[in-house]
Amino acid sequence: MFVVRDEIEKELKKAFKKLGYDENLVVLAYANNPAVADYQCNSCFAVSKKYNEKPNEVGEKIVEAMKGNKNFEMSFAFPGFINIRLTNEYLSKIANLTLEDNKIMLKKPEKKLKIVMDYGGANIAKELHMGHLRSPIIGEALYRLNKLMGHEVISDTHLGDWGTQIGLTLAQLEEDGYLEGYFKRGENKEITLETLNEEYPKASKRKNVDLKFKEKADEITLKVQQKKEPYFKIYSDVRKLSVAAIKKNYLTLGCHFDLWYGESTAYPYIERSVNIFKDKHLARESEGALVVDVAREGENIKIEKKSEDEVQRYKNPMPPLIIKKYNDGDVYATTDIATILMRNETYDPDKIIYVVDYRQDLHFERVFRACKLAGISKESQELVHVAYGTMNGPDGKAFKTRSGDVIKLEDVINLIKSKAEERLKENGIVDNEKLAMQIGVAALKFGDLINVVYKDYVFDLDKFSSFEGKTGPYIQYTGARISSLLRKAKEDVGKISIEQSEERNIAINIIKLYESFTTSYQENSLNSLCLALYNLASAYSQFYNNIKVLQEADEKKRKSYLALSKLVHSCLVLGLDILGIEMPEKM
Ligand code: ARG
Repeated sequence: MFVVRDEIEKELKKAFKKLGYDENLVVLAYANNPAVADYQCNSCFAVSKKYNEKPNEVGEKIVEAMKGNKNFEMSFAFPGFINIRLTNEYLSKIANLTLEDNKIMLKKPEKKLKIVMDYGGANIAKELHMGHLRSPIIGEALYRLNKLMGHEVISDTHLGDWGTQIGLTLAQLEEDGYLEGYFKRGENKEITLETLNEEYPKASKRKNVDLKFKEKADEITLKVQQKKEPYFKIYSDVRKLSVAAIKKNYLTLGCHFDLWYGESTAYPYIERSVNIFKDKHLARESEGALVVDVAREGENIKIEKKSEDEVQRYKNPMPPLIIKKYNDGDVYATTDIATILMRNETYDPDKIIYVVDYRQDLHFERVFRACKLAGISKESQELVHVAYGTMNGPDGKAFKTRSGDVIKLEDVINLIKSKAEERLKENGIVDNEKLAMQIGVAALKFGDLINVVYKDYVFDLDKFSSFEGKTGPYIQYTGARISSLLRKAKEDVGKISIEQSEERNIAINIIKLYESFTTSYQENSLNSLCLALYNLASAYSQFYNNIKVLQEADEKKRKSYLALSKLVHSCLVLGLDILGIEMPEKM
């Protein structure tokens, strides 16, 4: 491990110690003015206050104490900053080390964790649409990032296969005569994906106006949950059909899962987990349902009801958590709690990360609290909800087609592919489906991941698929350009020697890229990594435009340029790989 920031800090701390200053006061940041310095130390004021010395005197003393250091040049800047510039020799050394091992600058956490990740979360019988894109995209990237950090990670897609949509779909199928064979009343009608795509929305609309139908659907859901035949068999067949389609879509997007479990997988753990709450007197009955009070003192303030039939409301949104329905049926929280019990007994993870829409904030907060209360999740276990924002259309509202429908995931995939094909055609490349897909996926994922995770953003395919600017295709394009340069060079690369400003800029941006892995890891958001990749790619473009690599007559210089190019390529590939984006050879 060779972490530049840590190296600078170490040296500063030594100097502080020598001067009799508290080494905990060392504060390091990127320089405000990159033309003058790479990093800056912002400690002068704090030291000045603590030791009652003038900030500029403190600064000068620190600079003096660091004199003679071959790696960093320090200078004091009024009123109280110390500029730090990495020397060309030091940058060359770092670049060569990284060329040999492109993980050397990665700051891995000391403790290796076992992490279960929960993302994807598609629902059986409901069609995948645009709104289902963010979880697998962000989840896959965080999965890769956590693995890169040295953790053991297990991903589970946690399919929604136990909820009311099951009963609704089955009730509608039964009514429309698809299931006669299962009841030995006649022949089954063939159920396809199309069928499901029609039947569920139909049922979903009806449940609001047709109480009888809703009751029937609830009953079927319960029967499935109790594994009663023939409903359980019908359910299993529908599940199989649905899962195959979900798998195909996720795979196209390059999203993988170690486990294809679902809410139903937690079934054998439900009774036991509910009993834990009962035995510990943590559950109480409320209007026939079983609830757990998870509010802490001061929360859960009741708003006085104005009339008898008004629903009870709370000032602080921390109402009790329902863990069993009025008819003993399972709800979303039931399966989530049982799933935590299952995961803990099976894998005993240090951490469980959920990548789910921010609108489920309250659900997870309450589930986590309930599991902590009951000891289903031990004190030291981290339960994390990575809550992401909404992907919006140009009008700022959740993305819809012109006719007001949500766009099917499959259509989004076709859309991005044809957009990429258009762009490729401009570059004279036609009929390359694989490449178009690689670029389309890059556009989609990078366009998503460059946003701070919890923020909403506007889905703008034209912008995302451009070969210029902060886009996935731009990073790919830069990489492909390097590949082509290395192919043309037809010679081995040499040792890197950083001399000119363009080279310095690349080296600094490589260091920053490695820091961005840490930032993204700590923040569970990939925006820092995306930006750092973009900055590195632009630094390289500047170099590429200003320096004629292959025309360079000095062999040593030429080989150094080639080596630096190769290094950039390997860094871009590493970064893109974490985002779940492939690097094409040609573009
Ligand atoms: N199926 C859920 C939904 O569509 C998402 C599942 C998220 N994971 C979880 N363990 N609850 O909202």
